[in-house]
Amino acid sequence: MLFFALTTLLVSSACSGSGPQSALDPKGPVAEQIDDLWELVYVLAIAVFVFVMALLLWSIIRYRDKGDDAEPKQIHGNTVIELGGIVFSVVLLTIIGVPTISTLLDIRQVPTGPDVLDVTVIGHQWWWEFEYPDLIADDGTTLITANELHIPADTTVNLTMTSADVIHSFWIPALNGKRDVVPGRTSNLTLIADGAALAASADHDPATYIRSDDVPEGLMAVVPGQCAEFCGLAHGDMRIRVFVHDDAGFDTWVEEQLAPSPVPAGVDDANPTGAALGYTVFEALCTTCHQAKVVDADGTVAVIGARLAPNLTHFGSRETFGSATFVNTRDHLAQWLANPADLKPMEPDRNDISAGRILGMPNLGLTTDEIAALQQLLLETWR
Ligand code: CUA
Repeated sequence: MLFFALTTLLVSSACSGSGPQSALDPKGPVAEQIDDLWELVYVLAIAVFVFVMALLLWSIIRYRDKGDDAEPKQIHGNTVIELGGIVFSVVLLTIIGVPTISTLLDIRQVPTGPDVLDVTVIGHQWWWEFEYPDLIADDGTTLITANELHIPADTTVNLTMTSADVIHSFWIPALNGKRDVVPGRTSNLTLIADGAALAASADHDPATYIRSDDVPEGLMAVVPGQCAEFCGLAHGDMRIRVFVHDDAGFDTWVEEQLAPSPVPAGVDDANPTGAALGYTVFEALCTTCHQAKVVDADGTVAVIGARLAPNLTHFGSRETFGSATFVNTRDHLAQWLANPADLKPMEPDRNDISAGRILGMPNLGLTTDEIAALQQLLLETWR
């Protein structure tokens, strides 16, 4: 008993306090509803535990063997105890069941209306694709990004989610519960980020999540999450970051992302160098799986590549890569380009590009010059 109590204390102390991925520290109205329900059930569960344990202890002491071998009083058929047990259980389960069902129905409602921001979420082994169907550039393309979801604070965001391969689960603990992301089906999840609560939270201070010393204007907080359904080798590295902006900051981000990334000058040279060399490598190798929207010197916009891996337009503006697992620095990118599987466990040997099946980036056998050129293209030219 003492051992059990101590073990429980030790294990549960790991859940004490808060953290950026604590479901007990909600930072939005939907997550708060879930937390309120949890608190109600928790208090009732403790009350039942204490009541049952007290009854048990009382019985052990009161009816212990006093050495007289007397047969205890038989109470089978005692109406008060039997009916009382049933009524007590029904009342208790009703107190838990009614708010549970009502909360479930409530948070599953799909929000609609002109103020709702719609985002399509596609789960992949092992990364997340985000498409904003209503944010359309002048060239007619929609805003597509990967792993870092940008949303405005205090706005209802409706995620419509599906999977390209196996079942994943989208989970931002501070903003909502987890929801399965299933191939061939769509599921919805509502995110509402409480700007004031997030801004006051040290766990979500944007300064701790970004590479440079200058937090972008209007970025209020960063909220991490992750895939919550085992989906293969890199399930643990299938992370998510939600960037919460004020309205002006979000508009700036959208404007930047909708613009194409430039084709570097000098790509048609006989021996291109720097970003231009990077672009020729990108065109020759990366476009097998990666897409990018580019604009050349004449102002012609083109979408190049296949949509099988993260869209790399404005890749340099992302704080992380590899499904929000690695900080997007020159060093990490060089390691990744030299051999991606050294950084993140993946199964590129099982890729079947004609079938659209990608389980990770293979080692492309790039030279040091090509890696340096891609660093320049991806981190500097395509910011
Ligand atoms: Cu995707 Cu686990």
